[in-house]
Amino acid sequence: MSLPEPRITYKAYAYKNGNSPIEIVTETIDLVKNPSGQGYIAPPGQILLKINYASLNPVDYKLYKIKPSFLSLINSKQGFGRDFAGQVLSIGQGTNTTVKVGDYAEGIYTPMVGKGSVAEYLLVDPKKSPITSKPANINVAEASAFPLVLGTALQMCSRGGIKFANSKVLVIGAGTSVGRYAVQLARNGGAKEVVTTNSARTSELIESLGATSQIDYRKNPNLLNPTLESVKTSGPFDYIIDCWGGSDLFPQINTILTKGGVYNTIVGDAPGTGLAALIGSVKSITRTIRSKLGLLGYTYELMLLDNTAGWIDEARDLVGEGHLKIFIDKIYPFTELNEAIEKLESGTAQGKIVLEVAKPTTSTSTSSGAGSVDGSSNNPFQ
Ligand SMILES: NC(=O)c1ccc[n+]([C@@H]2O[C@H](COP(=O)([O-])OP(=O)(O)OC[C@H]3O[C@@H](n4cnc5c(N)ncnc54)[C@H](OP(=O)(O)O)[C@@H]3O)[C@@H](O)[C@H]2O)c1
Repeated sequence: MSLPEPRITYKAYAYKNGNSPIEIVTETIDLVKNPSGQGYIAPPGQILLKINYASLNPVDYKLYKIKPSFLSLINSKQGFGRDFAGQVLSIGQGTNTTVKVGDYAEGIYTPMVGKGSVAEYLLVDPKKSPITSKPANINVAEASAFPLVLGTALQMCSRGGIKFANSKVLVIGAGTSVGRYAVQLARNGGAKEVVTTNSARTSELIESLGATSQIDYRKNPNLLNPTLESVKTSGPFDYIIDCWGGSDLFPQINTILTKGGVYNTIVGDAPGTGLAALIGSVKSITRTIRSKLGLLGYTYELMLLDNTAGWIDEARDLVGEGHLKIFIDKIYPFTELNEAIEKLESGTAQGKIVLEVAKPTTSTSTSSGAGSVDGSSNNPFQ
């Protein structure tokens, strides 16, 4: 398929720095001549998508908050958002990808500087940004809601040689979007006990996902005592999957974790964005280094999602085979990014916050489990 114009002009959200608003701006994407005839296609090695949905992650806001003013001299239009789902309009020459023109696809836009996924169009280099076709059993909004958080959970639940069968697992922050997948992965992997920290509002849900017992973090602002209670009752934990952050357990970590156990965290010793979070990160990085040097009796890692690890097809298949549930808190209209961010920042979202950039043009179900798209019936370039 060729596109009629050499350049696409479209709307996207962007900001100058952490003190300026995130607002709708005009962006452009330059295409190249179609070598096989008239019209234009995506540049070599790139996939052009029309975005339907973009889901937000706390990291989007954290990156916005920490962008210092002087960097706006170099880059005055920093795009917002990582997760996306949309329709493939064009694939540049020599692009190594499994997606096809007309497919609905989802993924993570990874370049930290430049554009973002909350945009009407996006050019994606599949060597740098994981992208895969949409499973048939979910709709396009749901497709935007799993890449970053499920990818993170998959990596947290495997690094350090984790094998869940017959293990005892603690999932800290089970109510977070990442934590919900961690609980499901532990259950699917055959863990014999899955203890979680979450609040009462997610209690029933987290139990249905596989938690065998729960610690209410609101009633227990320090997790140490209830965790030690669990150790007293049924022995130490093999694995700790920390999706919220904190350092409560370290004073007695050698009692809480089995020798050779694994503690994987994606946040570190202190959640948030301020000085405390920075100090917490330094402590966590130091602990990660000490673990790698073999100086701890357990394996500890402060992890970042590895975008190059080729996990997105595994994530897609797990969703497509119906092994994992996807959670969306709310879908906001494109014009309501600031309201969506407010909800994200409240720490109360029950699953993903999703922005609807444009409704899909082909017949796509809006309810989970019934989506079916052939991607061939309409012109997506509209
Ligand atoms: N390092 C990485 O690569 C990476 C990747 C992804 C995410 N992250 C980080 O991981 C964290 C979670 O991200 P997310 O998108 O999954 O979060 P999210 O979906 O926005 O989390 C919202 C949930 O957080 C829970 N929560 C609030 N306060 C809590 C507390 N004190 N203890 C435990 N849970 C609490 C609430 O659960 P209840 O409903 O049970 O109250 C709420 O539903 C963020 O800090 C994010 O930046 C890091």
